[in-house]
Amino acid sequence: MNDQANNLRRMLHMASDGKRGTKVIAVVSGKGGVGKSNFSLNFALQLKNAGKKVILFDLDIGMANADILMGVSSKYTFVDMIEHELSIWDIIEEGPNNLSFIAGGTGLSSMFQLNPRKLSRFLQQLELINGEFDYIIFDMGAGATKDRFNFILSATEVIVVTTPEPTSVTDAYAMLKYIQLKDQNIPVSVLVNRAESNSEGKKTFENLKVVSGQFLQKDISLLGIIPNDPIVLKAVKAQVPFSLYSPDSKPSKAIIKIANDYIGENTFEEKKEPFQMFLNKFKKYFLDKSGGE
Ligand SMILES: Nc1ncnc2c1ncn2[C@@H]1O[C@H](COP(=O)(O)OP(=O)(O)OP(=O)(O)O)[C@@H](O)[C@H]1O
Ligand SMILES: [Mg+2]
Repeated sequence: MNDQANNLRRMLHMASDGKRGTKVIAVVSGKGGVGKSNFSLNFALQLKNAGKKVILFDLDIGMANADILMGVSSKYTFVDMIEHELSIWDIIEEGPNNLSFIAGGTGLSSMFQLNPRKLSRFLQQLELINGEFDYIIFDMGAGATKDRFNFILSATEVIVVTTPEPTSVTDAYAMLKYIQLKDQNIPVSVLVNRAESNSEGKKTFENLKVVSGQFLQKDISLLGIIPNDPIVLKAVKAQVPFSLYSPDSKPSKAIIKIANDYIGENTFEEKKEPFQMFLNKFKKYFLDKSGGE
């Protein structure tokens, strides 16, 4: 598609999405290493490719690596925004295909002992990007910490990534359970990664859906299935997102379809002011010292 057509598409999307506000999507898992970062990055790229305005926010506290997957060295991280009083616009970097992203950096764990002044500065800066993007994608670290859950529970919607491995599915269930205990209203969908076949992917999802419905009274939907394919590791080694490294590979075709389906059939109930809701919830969770681990 030529630049002019792309710009026009972007403008049309802007017009329709401006009213809805920015949605915050948290990409999570129970078990680590299941493919959250690769999914988040390529999902972000393909949503952008389909005309959406997207920003990827690496929130893998202490182990941030989205910039490594893109082969970009980031100048600032969001630690700098809080510690060195930079504006959010200063820390937004450009990745491949001009994807906007905010790098997590290391040494973030201590960052989250935000004092009220730092917290309000953090929120103030986040507020500046409201309406500037259709989607903010949080690439979360694995496992349960209070800080992580503050972000996850504040999100507009959550994507739980799992592989077909029973250990991964069990941990995905534990994550669903925790979310459900804290907030029954967050829409949750599941991305099955590294499936050996489509039917294995579907079966993995169905098993999770059944236990989630039966024991948690939580209805979950299937976001999509990405096949297990050595091209992903090759792309990681080349530090190029897999959907750009090998656009015709099976995982790339899968992620393109997932992004297009997501835009086309987003069945989640539209929230009026999703970003404001995110900020309000985030503030509430952060100021509430009692919950979480
Ligand atoms: N669809 C896939 N096919 C084959 N290998 C994959 C696939 N997805 C991920 N991998 C492999 O798994 C590794 C880990 O992926 P990734 O870093 O995205 O996981 P993660 O969930 O973000 O990990 P962490 O919990 O440490 O943040 C990749 O480097 C790649 O080797
Ligand atoms: Mg990761």
